[in-house]
Amino acid sequence: MIYLKRPGWHLPESTATDEQVYLNRRQWLKKMGIGGIASGVMASGMLYAPSAHADASLNPWKDLYPVKNNPKYKGERELTGERYATTYNNFYEFGSHKSIANSAQKLRISPWQVRIEGLVEKPMTVDFDKLVRQMPLEERILRHRCVETWAMTVPWSGFEMKHLVKFAKPLSSARYISFETLADGETMPGISQPWHPWPYLEGVTVEEAMNELCFIATGLYGKPIPKQNGAPLRLVLPWKYGFKSIKSIVRIQFTKDRPVSFWEESAPKEYGFWANVNPEVPHRRWSQASERLLGSNERVPTRLYNGYEEYVAGLYANMSSDARLFM
Ligand code: MTE
Repeated sequence: MIYLKRPGWHLPESTATDEQVYLNRRQWLKKMGIGGIASGVMASGMLYAPSAHADASLNPWKDLYPVKNNPKYKGERELTGERYATTYNNFYEFGSHKSIANSAQKLRISPWQVRIEGLVEKPMTVDFDKLVRQMPLEERILRHRCVETWAMTVPWSGFEMKHLVKFAKPLSSARYISFETLADGETMPGISQPWHPWPYLEGVTVEEAMNELCFIATGLYGKPIPKQNGAPLRLVLPWKYGFKSIKSIVRIQFTKDRPVSFWEESAPKEYGFWANVNPEVPHRRWSQASERLLGSNERVPTRLYNGYEEYVAGLYANMSSDARLFM
């Protein structure tokens, strides 16, 4: 039953056409009376189209947003329409297809606690509310590249992971950090799929976590992050394939040994630990040379480290150039 262990990502491109049923972004903006240059929405103007799942008014953290934009991270591409980024998702806990936005509304996000343990001075359970209210929040426009070859450019709000590392006070023996997503059988129908090793788990090295690009997102498009995008907190690793950016985190563990991530365990020949974006290393079943922009469907060349080489190449300078480094 090998095929059952593969993520839905292995579906051929032709089956991943959910977004075609949505309104063409430009037509939609025109309908909303927002045309021409305004469709190239820029963070500075905070002009965002309304979300398809606009429950933000009920969100306990709505008072925190919008936060100040950090102009250093501009995205360098037209912003993906909010409607696309919030209705075309990967969140296997709610199903192995893209249209999980409605079912993800069942996720109970308040109260939300995060357990921090392993090689730290003092293991602790922290209320997300307490945590987010003491972090230096900022907005960054970043590119996201899914291993399935679709891509988006979105304004995340949140804080650098390094602040969370300092908060956790790891011991010097800690070399890796693993993250786990909530696994709640009552609200998450996807976790009844027994061939996956729930809970969803991902990991980075402590060095990667301290890199300025490693971000914890708590907001999106100037509002609290929608449930389908990983509320109330998720990882954002823009130089790695999107599956590393784990959603709805409940556990963070500092370890000496490298953790085995969810997809690595599900399909070790197809998904590795490093998962750095690299157009020259094809996936076993498809090329990674180009990517499709969510919304416009335009195809553009993929760049090494998703174009963030200047920030992260140093992290891997002393590692083997073995292609597996990038898998
Ligand atoms: N995190 C969890 N817990 N479960 C998932 O299925 N999918 C990953 C990542 N994080 C996933 C996850 C994948 S494959 C991608 S591409 C991104 O989330 C998608 O994020 P988005 O839906 O916000 O675009």
